[in-house]
Amino acid sequence: MPMTIGVPREVHPGERRVAATPDSVKELLKLGYQVAVETGAGQEASFSDDDYRAAGAAIVDAASLWASVDVVVKVRPPQVHPSLGVEEAALLKKHATLIGFVWPAQQMPMLERLAQRGATVLAMDCVPRISRAQKLDALSSMANMAGYRAVIEAAHAFGRPFAGQITAAGKIPPARVLVIGAGVAGLAAIGAARSLGAVVRAFDTRPVVRQQIESLGAEFLTVEIEEDGSGSGGYAKEMSPAFIEAEMRLFAEQAREVDIIITTALIPGKPAPKLLEAGTVGLMRAGSVVVDLAAEQGGNCVLTVPGESVRRDGVTIIGYTDLPSRMAAQSSQLYATNIRHLLTELTPGKDGQLVVNMDDEMIRGATVQHQGAVTWPPPPLTVAIPQQQAPAASQPVQAEAAPPRNRTGVTLAALAVAAIALLALGAVAPPAFMAHFTVFVLAIFVGYQVVWNVTAALHTPLMSVTNAISGIIVVGALVQLGKPSLLTAVIAGCAVLVATINIAGGFLVTQRMLKMFQRD
Ligand code: NAI
Repeated sequence: MPMTIGVPREVHPGERRVAATPDSVKELLKLGYQVAVETGAGQEASFSDDDYRAAGAAIVDAASLWASVDVVVKVRPPQVHPSLGVEEAALLKKHATLIGFVWPAQQMPMLERLAQRGATVLAMDCVPRISRAQKLDALSSMANMAGYRAVIEAAHAFGRPFAGQITAAGKIPPARVLVIGAGVAGLAAIGAARSLGAVVRAFDTRPVVRQQIESLGAEFLTVEIEEDGSGSGGYAKEMSPAFIEAEMRLFAEQAREVDIIITTALIPGKPAPKLLEAGTVGLMRAGSVVVDLAAEQGGNCVLTVPGESVRRDGVTIIGYTDLPSRMAAQSSQLYATNIRHLLTELTPGKDGQLVVNMDDEMIRGATVQHQGAVTWPPPPLTVAIPQQQAPAASQPVQAEAAPPRNRTGVTLAALAVAAIALLALGAVAPPAFMAHFTVFVLAIFVGYQVVWNVTAALHTPLMSVTNAISGIIVVGALVQLGKPSLLTAVIAGCAVLVATINIAGGFLVTQRMLKMFQRD
């Protein structure tokens, strides 16, 4: 009997997103599930009940959805249902699974109530930021939308176009935008502001993002103090008071020049650093705008009021905490795709049966409660985390780089054994064999070192390089094919076949990668 996935309407005030779209429903059906969608669940995100029905979902009311489905997919954490008058956690069927943003650090009482129902809970905000899990990374997809929307909100509140113009009626200078914090949201904001024609500057404590900022056409600002904000495994770390002071001096200087400041600075699991003081905002020209994305974590600006737009001395300070929800259709589509990828991982048999494999580090990281037992926080990860990424919002630091192990001794011992074996072989083998064998061993050694030292995020571009190497193998094998020995011909044939598969696969992957950057 296939399980049923339920998509309730979000009850959080002002929340317009939905956890499944008609397109994602079709994909969930392909995984063998049945899908039930609450009446009007997608209305605010421009998806009608008829769209869901056409995709193959059943449309049901809230009470019967919560009472009957085996898996509930949501955006916001469960809360009191306004029309049913009960906590959503209490409505969940016994032993059912809940998937959505959970924020376990702040939602422990709710998790305990869910535990009483024997529930399994997977938190989209706890998906570890490892390469394999990028397609499930809802924090990044939402931060991306938030960064874009922050620019649009700023443009709406700002009294001038972003792009400079020279018209018969006068000259319009381009808007100057400062982006503080160049994580996912910050980079999206830089891209959006640049494409509207603004002059953009950006600052981040991690010098590693300099290249990304510059490649988007913005200027990377620096302070006189040298301190690297990159924490372990690519996460941002807290800076020294001296650095924060120097940074604040820089922002005070910039405040006199820029029209718009977008702040996204955050250290995972910590309150947002206060970087813009009232005095700094006071230095901005009347009509300027500050958008504080970190409003929910206390704000980067002392004047921010979370969820509101306020005016102080002629400067508009926007502290909206629902930026992705303000672009509900697109945000829902991205979020629904993240959820669908997670469900694909959870359905190995594509038979509509959900399997929570706690041995899989990605699933383990996301599972904050398993069959009624709270399993958060998860044990530290033992894989490398892509350099440029850091967790957003109040996600607890749940992934740490593996402690550097002293491998030198082991490597030296292995090398000594290999050298002795090589000498022993050299004593008996013919000289021609030894020459080829030495090249072969060195090639394995160099190849191993090269591939293993490339960060996981760069494995896809690495495929392109292996194409070139495979090309050399094909040429070498073709030369050998003409040799009279049958064994040589067979081995050479195999080499041609395997290397050709590698080349074709490499081109295919590279093509897919390039398509991601192409505009229609
Ligand atoms: P992220 O962790 O990828 O980026 C934060 C960046 O801030 C990092 O690059 C870090 O190096 C930098 N940073 C940390 N301390 C700094 C300092 N003292 N000075 C300058 N830079 C500093 O986070 P992401 O995903 O880009 O999110 C950014 C913010 O946006 C978070 O606060 C997140 O909660 C918020 N957000 C807000 C939404 C809204 O509706 N308002 C929606 C989605 C995200």
